[in-house]
Amino acid sequence: MVPNNANLQGVRVALTGGTSGLGLALLDELLARGARVAFVARDSRPVAKVAASRSKAVGLVGDVSCKNDIYPLAMQISGLLGGVDVLVNNASTLGPVPLAQLADTECEDFETALATNLLGPFRLTRALLGSLTAAAREHGGALVLNVSSDAAIEPYPTWGAYGASKAGLRHLSRIWDLELAAQRVRVLSLDPGDMDTPLHALAVPDADPASLKRPATAAREFADAIAAALYALRQPVSLEGEQV
Ligand SMILES: NC(=O)c1ccc[n+]([C@@H]2O[C@H](COP(=O)([O-])OP(=O)(O)OC[C@H]3O[C@@H](n4cnc5c(N)ncnc54)[C@H](OP(=O)(O)O)[C@@H]3O)[C@@H](O)[C@H]2O)c1
Repeated sequence: MVPNNANLQGVRVALTGGTSGLGLALLDELLARGARVAFVARDSRPVAKVAASRSKAVGLVGDVSCKNDIYPLAMQISGLLGGVDVLVNNASTLGPVPLAQLADTECEDFETALATNLLGPFRLTRALLGSLTAAAREHGGALVLNVSSDAAIEPYPTWGAYGASKAGLRHLSRIWDLELAAQRVRVLSLDPGDMDTPLHALAVPDADPASLKRPATAAREFADAIAAALYALRQPVSLEGEQV
């Protein structure tokens, strides 16, 4: 149940990339609001360290860009949480580092950006769709939140691999949101803004951290958006299909 539009008591959340930056801040924000969270990252040591100090979280090691990791991850997430109300596709890669113009971008770096930022969220959403629709039937609604970027909209030179993958993810989200509306599963994409994280430091090494958003601020905004979307979905529906 979501008793109000800020509380996430008992909400079951799958979160990719929960060991750094926005993902780590969002993990803590969701736990503070009463959610139970299964998070995924590739490096086993940070996964174990983050999970060890958070009793309502489970950490899983996996690579969302790797096709063979997706179904085992989805099965573990659903099994450990007993279902999934919310999936946050947050894990991401820049592609070439340092950032490069498209003419200088290796095809392998482009493929990695697409596999991590677009195909991975597509595969994980598909793999969890049964759990999400079951949660929507049981509780009135479920949510997929895809983490986007202004690079999904603005054509920034040297951000081609990342920008193309995020533009694809944004459009995928809009189409899937329409297709899943009848099943009361919302698919949103949100841009957290420029944040002081390791990913941003890799992309723009000379940026002044003080000029960047704190990941905790973006995490609060994302948790508010998750709670508001679930709250709206879970309002009673009249016989005509209008929310009452
Ligand atoms: N930072 C910004 O200014 C900014 C701006 C706009 C949008 N965003 C978006 O915000 C999101 C979070 O970015 P961030 O800056 O917080 O990044 P970050 O600090 O680099 O954290 C990325 C997280 O994702 C995990 N990860 C990366 N690749 C993965 C993979 N293939 N499979 C599973 N986990 C993976 C990382 O752990 P492992 O390395 O151990 O896997 C880590 O936990 C991303 O979607 C990014 O595009 C960021």
